[in-house]
Amino acid sequence: MAKDMESFQSQEEKRRKRMKLAAYIGAFAVFQVIVILVFALVVMRVKTPKFRVGNGIAIHGLDTVSGAGQSSPAASFDMNFTAPMRIKNANFGPYKYDAATVSFNYGGVEVGQAAIPKGKANMKSTKKVDVAVSVSSSAIAGNSSSLGSELSSGVLTLNSQGRLNGKVELMLIFKKKKSTDMNCSIAINVASKTVQSLTCH
Ligand SMILES: *[C@@H]1O[C@H](CO)[C@@H](O)[C@H](O)[C@H]1NC(C)=O
Ligand SMILES: *[C@@H]1O[C@H](CO)[C@@H](O)[C@H](O)[C@H]1NC(C)=O
Ligand SMILES: *[C@@H]1O[C@H](CO)[C@@H](O)[C@H](O)[C@H]1NC(C)=O
Repeated sequence: MAKDMESFQSQEEKRRKRMKLAAYIGAFAVFQVIVILVFALVVMRVKTPKFRVGNGIAIHGLDTVSGAGQSSPAASFDMNFTAPMRIKNANFGPYKYDAATVSFNYGGVEVGQAAIPKGKANMKSTKKVDVAVSVSSSAIAGNSSSLGSELSSGVLTLNSQGRLNGKVELMLIFKKKKSTDMNCSIAINVASKTVQSLTCH
Protein backbone atom coordinates (compact mmCIF):
# COMPACT_ATOMS: atom_id res chain seq x y z
CA MET A 1 0.00 0.00 0.00
CA ALA A 2 2.75 2.40 1.02
CA LYS A 3 4.72 1.33 -2.03
CA ASP A 4 1.75 2.09 -4.34
CA MET A 5 1.44 5.50 -2.74
CA GLU A 6 5.13 6.13 -3.28
CA SER A 7 5.04 5.19 -6.95
CA PHE A 8 1.92 7.29 -7.44
CA GLN A 9 3.71 10.27 -5.92
CA SER A 10 6.82 9.78 -8.03
CA GLN A 11 4.66 9.41 -11.13
CA GLU A 12 2.87 12.63 -10.23
CA GLU A 13 6.27 14.23 -9.75
CA LYS A 14 7.42 13.03 -13.17
CA ARG A 15 4.25 14.32 -14.77
CA ARG A 16 4.76 17.72 -13.20
CA LYS A 17 8.35 17.77 -14.37
CA ARG A 18 7.26 16.92 -17.89
CA MET A 19 4.63 19.67 -17.83
CA LYS A 20 7.27 22.12 -16.63
CA LEU A 21 9.63 21.10 -19.40
CA ALA A 22 6.85 21.45 -21.99
CA ALA A 23 6.09 24.92 -20.65
CA TYR A 24 9.77 25.87 -20.93
CA ILE A 25 9.96 24.56 -24.48
CA GLY A 26 6.76 26.42 -25.39
CA ALA A 27 8.05 29.67 -23.89
CA PHE A 28 11.34 29.24 -25.68
CA ALA A 29 9.57 28.63 -29.01
CA VAL A 30 7.49 31.80 -28.56
CA PHE A 31 10.66 33.69 -27.67
CA GLN A 32 12.37 32.36 -30.79
CA VAL A 33 9.45 33.43 -32.98
CA ILE A 34 9.59 36.94 -31.49
CA VAL A 35 13.36 37.11 -32.05
CA ILE A 36 12.95 35.97 -35.67
CA LEU A 37 10.13 38.45 -36.28
CA VAL A 38 12.10 41.35 -34.83
CA PHE A 39 15.08 40.27 -36.89
CA ALA A 40 13.05 40.04 -40.10
CA LEU A 41 11.11 43.26 -39.55
CA VAL A 42 13.80 45.48 -38.10
CA VAL A 43 17.27 44.21 -38.88
CA MET A 44 16.71 42.66 -42.31
CA ARG A 45 14.37 45.33 -43.65
CA VAL A 46 16.28 47.37 -46.21
CA LYS A 47 15.59 51.08 -46.01
CA THR A 48 16.46 53.48 -48.81
CA PRO A 49 19.38 55.68 -47.73
CA LYS A 50 18.84 59.44 -47.88
CA PHE A 51 20.99 61.62 -50.10
CA ARG A 52 20.93 65.38 -49.70
CA VAL A 53 22.85 68.61 -49.39
CA GLY A 54 23.30 69.25 -45.67
CA ASN A 55 23.11 72.52 -43.82
CA GLY A 56 26.22 74.63 -43.76
CA ILE A 57 26.96 75.46 -47.40
CA ALA A 58 29.98 77.78 -47.33
CA ILE A 59 29.99 80.40 -50.08
CA HIS A 60 33.53 81.49 -50.93
CA GLY A 61 32.81 83.84 -53.78
CA LEU A 62 29.73 85.22 -55.50
CA ASP A 63 29.66 87.73 -58.33
CA THR A 64 26.39 88.74 -59.92
CA VAL A 65 25.22 91.15 -62.58
CA SER A 66 21.52 91.78 -62.34
CA GLY A 67 21.27 93.10 -65.92
CA ALA A 68 18.40 95.46 -65.34
CA GLY A 69 18.03 98.13 -68.01
CA GLN A 70 18.58 98.21 -71.76
CA SER A 71 22.26 99.13 -71.96
CA SER A 72 23.56 96.97 -69.09
CA PRO A 73 25.05 93.55 -69.79
CA ALA A 74 22.94 90.42 -69.55
CA ALA A 75 22.20 89.07 -66.09
CA SER A 76 24.79 86.62 -64.87
CA PHE A 77 26.20 84.91 -61.80
CA ASP A 78 29.44 83.21 -60.85
CA MET A 79 29.76 81.43 -57.53
CA ASN A 80 32.12 79.09 -55.68
CA PHE A 81 31.02 77.19 -52.61
CA THR A 82 31.59 74.07 -50.56
CA ALA A 83 28.55 71.81 -50.37
CA PRO A 84 28.28 69.36 -47.47
CA MET A 85 26.80 66.26 -49.08
CA ARG A 86 25.12 63.85 -46.69
CA ILE A 87 24.34 60.16 -47.16
CA LYS A 88 22.21 58.91 -44.28
CA ASN A 89 22.09 55.15 -43.88
CA ALA A 90 19.51 53.84 -41.37
CA ASN A 91 20.24 50.18 -42.13
CA PHE A 92 21.89 47.60 -39.87
CA GLY A 93 24.71 47.26 -42.36
CA PRO A 94 26.90 49.46 -44.58
CA TYR A 95 25.71 51.15 -47.77
CA LYS A 96 28.38 51.00 -50.46
CA TYR A 97 27.78 53.38 -53.34
CA ASP A 98 29.40 54.05 -56.70
CA ALA A 99 30.88 57.35 -57.80
CA ALA A 100 28.19 59.80 -58.87
CA THR A 101 27.64 63.30 -60.17
CA VAL A 102 25.37 65.90 -58.66
CA SER A 103 24.22 68.60 -61.03
CA PHE A 104 23.36 72.11 -59.98
CA ASN A 105 20.70 73.71 -62.12
CA TYR A 106 19.15 77.07 -62.68
CA GLY A 107 15.74 77.09 -64.33
CA GLY A 108 16.27 73.54 -65.56
CA VAL A 109 19.67 74.29 -67.13
CA GLU A 110 22.80 72.77 -65.63
CA VAL A 111 25.13 75.49 -64.34
CA GLY A 112 27.62 73.36 -62.38
CA GLN A 113 28.55 69.88 -61.23
CA ALA A 114 30.01 68.12 -58.23
CA ALA A 115 31.67 64.72 -58.22
CA ILE A 116 30.90 62.32 -55.38
CA PRO A 117 33.64 59.70 -55.13
CA LYS A 118 32.78 56.04 -54.58
CA GLY A 119 32.37 55.38 -50.87
CA LYS A 120 30.60 53.78 -47.96
CA ALA A 121 28.13 54.97 -45.32
CA ASN A 122 28.45 52.81 -42.23
CA MET A 123 25.45 51.19 -40.55
CA LYS A 124 23.16 53.60 -38.70
CA SER A 125 25.23 56.63 -39.61
CA THR A 126 25.57 59.57 -41.94
CA LYS A 127 28.50 59.81 -44.32
CA LYS A 128 29.71 63.36 -44.84
CA VAL A 129 31.34 64.36 -48.10
CA ASP A 130 32.28 68.00 -48.59
CA VAL A 131 32.63 68.93 -52.25
CA ALA A 132 33.81 72.09 -53.96
CA VAL A 133 31.35 73.43 -56.52
CA SER A 134 31.63 76.17 -59.12
CA VAL A 135 28.48 77.39 -60.80
CA SER A 136 28.18 79.99 -63.48
CA SER A 137 25.43 81.32 -65.69
CA SER A 138 27.58 80.91 -68.82
CA ALA A 139 25.50 77.85 -69.80
CA ILE A 140 22.40 80.02 -69.79
CA ALA A 141 24.17 82.60 -71.95
CA GLY A 142 21.79 85.46 -71.25
CA ASN A 143 18.97 83.23 -72.34
CA SER A 144 16.91 83.32 -69.19
CA SER A 145 14.22 85.95 -68.95
CA SER A 146 13.76 85.32 -65.23
CA LEU A 147 17.41 85.51 -64.14
CA GLY A 148 17.64 89.32 -64.28
CA SER A 149 14.51 89.85 -62.22
CA GLU A 150 15.44 87.11 -59.79
CA LEU A 151 18.88 88.63 -59.20
CA SER A 152 17.33 92.09 -58.85
CA SER A 153 15.04 90.70 -56.16
CA GLY A 154 18.18 89.57 -54.33
CA VAL A 155 17.62 85.82 -54.26
CA LEU A 156 19.17 83.24 -56.56
CA THR A 157 17.53 79.79 -56.46
CA LEU A 158 19.46 76.74 -57.55
CA ASN A 159 18.36 73.13 -57.63
CA SER A 160 20.65 70.16 -57.04
CA GLN A 161 19.92 66.73 -58.41
CA GLY A 162 21.76 63.46 -58.36
CA ARG A 163 21.43 59.74 -57.90
CA LEU A 164 23.54 57.32 -55.93
CA ASN A 165 23.59 53.67 -56.95
CA GLY A 166 24.82 51.13 -54.46
CA LYS A 167 24.22 48.14 -52.25
CA VAL A 168 23.13 47.73 -48.66
CA GLU A 169 24.98 44.86 -47.02
CA LEU A 170 23.35 42.92 -44.19
CA MET A 171 24.98 40.29 -41.99
CA LEU A 172 28.05 40.49 -44.25
CA ILE A 173 26.37 38.23 -46.85
CA PHE A 174 23.03 39.63 -47.93
CA LYS A 175 23.30 42.41 -50.49
CA LYS A 176 20.43 44.48 -51.76
CA LYS A 177 20.71 47.07 -54.54
CA LYS A 178 19.46 50.49 -53.46
CA SER A 179 19.41 53.78 -55.32
CA THR A 180 18.71 57.09 -53.73
CA ASP A 181 17.87 60.43 -55.35
CA MET A 182 18.74 63.93 -54.32
CA ASN A 183 16.45 66.81 -55.17
CA CYS A 184 17.23 69.96 -53.23
CA SER A 185 16.31 73.56 -53.71
CA ILE A 186 18.84 76.16 -52.50
CA ALA A 187 17.88 79.83 -52.19
CA ILE A 188 20.87 82.14 -51.92
CA ASN A 189 20.73 85.67 -50.65
CA VAL A 190 22.87 87.56 -53.14
CA ALA A 191 23.65 90.59 -50.95
CA SER A 192 24.71 88.71 -47.81
CA LYS A 193 26.16 85.77 -49.81
CA THR A 194 24.47 83.28 -47.51
CA VAL A 195 21.99 80.47 -47.91
CA GLN A 196 18.53 81.75 -47.13
CA SER A 197 16.75 78.40 -47.34
CA LEU A 198 17.51 74.83 -48.23
CA THR A 199 14.85 72.19 -48.79
CA CYS A 200 15.30 68.65 -50.00
CA HIS A 201 12.58 66.31 -51.22
C1 LIG B 1 35.54 80.72 -58.55
O1 LIG B 1 36.70 79.94 -58.75
C2 LIG B 1 37.30 80.09 -60.01
C3 LIG B 1 38.41 79.08 -60.12
O2 LIG B 1 39.18 79.06 -58.94
C4 LIG B 1 37.76 81.53 -60.19
O3 LIG B 1 38.33 81.69 -61.48
C5 LIG B 1 36.57 82.46 -60.02
O4 LIG B 1 36.99 83.79 -60.08
C6 LIG B 1 35.86 82.18 -58.71
N1 LIG B 1 34.63 82.98 -58.69
C7 LIG B 1 34.26 83.72 -57.66
C8 LIG B 1 33.00 84.47 -57.80
O5 LIG B 1 34.92 83.77 -56.62
C1 LIG C 1 17.86 79.94 -75.74
O1 LIG C 1 16.56 79.39 -75.46
C2 LIG C 1 15.91 78.94 -76.62
C3 LIG C 1 14.51 78.51 -76.23
O2 LIG C 1 14.49 77.78 -75.05
C4 LIG C 1 16.72 77.81 -77.25
O3 LIG C 1 16.09 77.35 -78.42
C5 LIG C 1 18.14 78.30 -77.56
O4 LIG C 1 18.91 77.24 -78.06
C6 LIG C 1 18.77 78.90 -76.34
N1 LIG C 1 20.05 79.49 -76.69
C7 LIG C 1 21.15 79.32 -75.95
C8 LIG C 1 22.35 80.04 -76.41
O5 LIG C 1 21.16 78.59 -74.95
C1 LIG D 1 12.21 67.98 -57.32
O1 LIG D 1 11.38 68.65 -56.38
C2 LIG D 1 10.55 69.64 -56.97
C3 LIG D 1 9.83 70.38 -55.87
O2 LIG D 1 9.07 69.55 -55.08
C4 LIG D 1 9.59 68.96 -57.94
O3 LIG D 1 8.77 69.93 -58.55
C5 LIG D 1 10.38 68.23 -59.01
O4 LIG D 1 9.54 67.52 -59.85
C6 LIG D 1 11.37 67.27 -58.37
N1 LIG D 1 12.23 66.72 -59.40
C7 LIG D 1 12.52 65.43 -59.48
C8 LIG D 1 13.43 65.03 -60.59
O5 LIG D 1 12.08 64.62 -58.68
